[in-house]
Amino acid sequence: MLLRLPGVYRPQDDTEMLADVIASEELGPSSRVLDLCAGTGALSVRAAEAGAGSVTAVDVSLRAVLSIRLNALTRRLPIRVLRGDLTESIRSERFDLIVSNPPYVPAHDDALPARGVARAWDAGKNGRALLDRICAQSPDVLAPGGVLLLTQSALSGIEKTQTMLEEQNLRVELAATAEIPFGPVLEGRRKMLEERGLIEPGQSREQIVVFRAAK
Ligand SMILES: C[S@@+](CC[C@H](N)C(=O)[O-])C[C@H]1O[C@@H](n2cnc3c(N)ncnc32)[C@H](O)[C@@H]1O
Repeated sequence: MLLRLPGVYRPQDDTEMLADVIASEELGPSSRVLDLCAGTGALSVRAAEAGAGSVTAVDVSLRAVLSIRLNALTRRLPIRVLRGDLTESIRSERFDLIVSNPPYVPAHDDALPARGVARAWDAGKNGRALLDRICAQSPDVLAPGGVLLLTQSALSGIEKTQTMLEEQNLRVELAATAEIPFGPVLEGRRKMLEERGLIEPGQSREQIVVFRAAK
């Protein structure tokens, strides 16, 4: 059971899908893991428990950072927790595994929330505000042979992610895919998504994928 301060993303199906893929990666005592957009630190905890040598968790939200610290402390896991914007604070470092379940839900407009729980899912009109930056920044902090595991919805453009990562010479594959029922956020945006042609009338499930991109 993870501790979670109010306003911090509750780990959900997408978290669990990514955690399952992490479990199939080889994590030894020398492996350096980066969890971008870490929320409660659910994925950092999994990586640390799976034997990663070091785990760094980054989130922009103070409440998320405090939640991760509490979760690491209560489990006696040596997770380094940083508050920051994506890779900004660790640009000079290199990681063997980057995991990220970022905000990827198409929003009403392109203004990203500066606070509040919506910061965990709102990602601009096309849902790609964070995905595009992660695709662009991750290769720079991946060690040679390193791997990026990235979760997103098909509503925010699977092909775009694949193309962006391949353009940076990563070997890209789909490590997991699943159809999951709309949660309350997508239910509330059904009309907008239909009007934009992103979903069919009456559609109530979305495809979630986990990309595996190797350097
Ligand atoms: C969908 S939640 C995922 C949390 C966790 N990884 C999980 O799977 O349960 C996305 C997280 O991204 C964080 N976030 C949003 N913008 C960010 C940014 N620019 N840099 C770092 N973290 C960010 C939010 O605060 C939120 O905790």
